[in-house]
Order: sequence, then structure tokens, then C-alpha cells
Amino acid sequence: MQISPSILSADFANLETELARIANADWAHVDVMDGHFVPNLTLGLPIVEALARVSPIPLDCHLMIEDPDRWAPMYAEAGGASVTFHIEAARDPRTLAKNLRGLGARAGMAIKPNTPFAPYEDLLPDLDMVLVMTVEPGFGGQSFMADQMPKVAQVREAVRRHGGEIWVQVDGGVSAKTIEECAEAGADVFVAGSAVYGAEDAAAAVDQLRALATAHAH
Ligand code: DX5
Ligand code: ZN
Repeated sequence: MQISPSILSADFANLETELARIANADWAHVDVMDGHFVPNLTLGLPIVEALARVSPIPLDCHLMIEDPDRWAPMYAEAGGASVTFHIEAARDPRTLAKNLRGLGARAGMAIKPNTPFAPYEDLLPDLDMVLVMTVEPGFGGQSFMADQMPKVAQVREAVRRHGGEIWVQVDGGVSAKTIEECAEAGADVFVAGSAVYGAEDAAAAVDQLRALATAHAH
């Protein structure tokens, strides 16, 4: 059970300090948005490179961008230990996933709430993680979409059938209130932005979320 706090809810003027606040987490989730795939713009390659230099924990890059076939490998080269592209934007996801792995990164595939998983199940051999979005991508602090839990269960079941170590991540509205149902549905990597960075003690929030998830492990 791994926790990946999203720095989208951190203080962008003090990112090194903000990363130090979550040094007990498993990953630092970095939301890259290009203003095209989603109606918001955050940060890109130079900032990911800078974060990789100072982060006490590995970077989990979530690319909400167009043309990931072209750009995603550069995030692996910039220091993203895990790089997740959106299936809705990828032209050749199998080749892209292989390229990411070839660069030494874990390859992740993200699916938006209205995107079904079944058509992409045959990509599992080339993936290390499937991210089931539990909000429409674009902004932090939105309400959790419990109606995505059947999709989480479906992905977990497909991963179980397939075998091997493929993680199932949830992202959006994950908090102490919602993490248990995510864990019960089969998620094992939990992104939380506002629930961690909105807390007085971010590290304590990470520990609390991990304990809740562990107690409800699938
Ligand atoms: C949304 C991002 C999320 C976001 C989560 O598009 O992908 O990672 O930061 O924020 P919370 O946890 O506040 O919903
Ligand atoms: Zn994200």
C-alpha cells in the first residue's frame, strides 16, 4: 500500500521544502498539465528535472498532456521513476510503454472517468501501473467519484488474471473518508493532494492514509 502525495496542492514557491514534508511517502506525484489535454497548465520538463535533483523520494509523473508518444520519454529522462500517460491521448501506447521501460522508468497508463478499461486490457504485459482517475483530470480539490470503484475492481481482476506486479492507482478526491473503499476495490497506490498538503502535519496525514489503506487491503 503506497501513498503518492500530489504536489499540485503544495506551495509552488517552496517545492523543495514541500517535498521534505512528505519524505515518509512512497512517491511524490507530479501533475503535468499542458493547457490542451486538460484546461489547466502546471509545470513541465525543467521543473521535473529540478524536483528530481532535490526530492527525497522518487517522482511519480502523471502526464495530462497531448502527444505523450513524443513527450513522455523525456519525463523518464528528466528523472521520473514512474511515468504515466493518458490512454485517451496516446497514438501507439504499446510502443510508448516499451520506450518508458527501456529508459528505466515504470510505465503507467491513466484512464479518465468516462473511458472504459476493457479495450486496453491487452496492454497489461507492457505496463507497470494502471491509474483509474476518480475525478475529471485538471484540478485538485474535487469530489471523489465513487462510481469509479467498479472500474478499479475490474482492473484489479484483470491484473490478477494476468499475473505479475502491476500496480492499480487511484487519483482524485482520495482522503481518509474515501481511501478505504478504494483499497477494498483493489487499489494499492493512492494519490492524495489536498488531503495531505491541506493537513497541518503532512507526514502524519501520509501515515494515516497508509494505515487506513493497509487495514482495508484487498
Ligand atoms: C487532478 C490531479 C490530481 C490532483 C488530486 O487532475 O491528477 O493528482 O492533484 O488532488 P486531490 O487529492 O485534492 O483531489
Ligand atoms: Zn494526478
